[in-house]
Amino acid sequence: MVSSRDLPHGGAATGALTVLGLESTCDETAAAVVRAPLGAGRHVVGPGVILSSVVWGQEGLHAAFGGVVPEIAARAHAERLDLCVEAALAQAGVGLDALDGVSVAAGPGLIGGVIAGVMTAKGLAFGAGLPLIGVNHLEGHALTPRLTDGLAFPYLLLLVSGGHCQLLAVDGLGACARLGGTIDDAPGEAFDKIAKHLGLGYPGGPEVEREAAGGDPARFPFPRPLLDRPGCDVSFSGLKTAVRRAADALIAAQGGLTRADRADLCAGFQAAVAETLAEKAARAMRLFRETRAAPEGAPGPALAVAGGVAANGAIRAALGARAAAEGFRLVAPPLALCTDNAAMIAWAGAERLARGERSGLDLAARARWPLDAGAAPLLGAGRKGAKG
Ligand code: KG4
Ligand code: ZN
Repeated sequence: MVSSRDLPHGGAATGALTVLGLESTCDETAAAVVRAPLGAGRHVVGPGVILSSVVWGQEGLHAAFGGVVPEIAARAHAERLDLCVEAALAQAGVGLDALDGVSVAAGPGLIGGVIAGVMTAKGLAFGAGLPLIGVNHLEGHALTPRLTDGLAFPYLLLLVSGGHCQLLAVDGLGACARLGGTIDDAPGEAFDKIAKHLGLGYPGGPEVEREAAGGDPARFPFPRPLLDRPGCDVSFSGLKTAVRRAADALIAAQGGLTRADRADLCAGFQAAVAETLAEKAARAMRLFRETRAAPEGAPGPALAVAGGVAANGAIRAALGARAAAEGFRLVAPPLALCTDNAAMIAWAGAERLARGERSGLDLAARARWPLDAGAAPLLGAGRKGAKG
């Protein structure tokens, strides 16, 4: 087996780093092997090659509770991580000896799961004599457009998932500036809660989107939160309550919801989220353009999306339209790389390992770990705690 450590490093586009990534911060147990090409100055240049990406989703374990149960998640991660690693190495067709490092999401997230990942990574790195690197889960999402599309810094990122909602200027590795975020719920969390209230399945996002497809988005004029206020922050708590109230009023008046009621409620809610996110993203695009030059040689500035909610067709369409109007390219990674996965962790690790960074065996798991340490904390917690 040829190790990428034997490849000639340095110089223009010579060599690569092959990194194993581990992800266990929420309800996906994942392992992946990614090859990151090295360019001039031994910096990683995208796009990368995903040799394998194994994601074991825990939805089935949490579905009955309508949300992630931290203790159940942690146990499942501890039981499944080594199997995921085994599968990822087998699918990639490499052994530990072919790796240049082990990268693990060391936070932010549900602490039991994060500890399971960090301990597994330490054991593997120590046992195989490999460099260890602990990375920020949010940085994994933030750097995904570099893995998939080779996007150059700087770019604007909208991260929308069940636990996070942030508009970030990604200026470089370890240099993210938050331009806005949610002050209460994350959008995915709102999708999940609405689905639960309407008797739909978990996770709620895809269920609400399916229902909304046959609905009339104009029947319920739900609020567009915070659009009347300046800035790029968003809020979804009031919108969630408005949808619940509308549903409850119908149930009280007619004893239940018809299929059309449910579809119209979902369509109205989805339209409100899409419009709100698109408008706030447009404000962030203007701010970004005023303060940053597009990368040299790039066809203009880019708005990238990440997180499970970015899978939503209506939201993608609204963002695409606003991006085009603002002169931005919309970069939307494939769905499997928008939701939690370990390929993004391997990639973030590769970017840091290439710079010579290493974590010690004292690497600590972190429940909280904001990407932009300089930004004032937002009020919102999100269902997985205040991740950023
Ligand atoms: O990024 P992700 O896999 O995990 C984290 O939250 O970190 O995102 C999961 C979230 C869930 O809240 C789920 O309901 C939402 O993304 N989601 C969607 C869709 N697919 C997943 N929300 C709206 N529309 C979708 N199609
Ligand atoms: Zn995530």
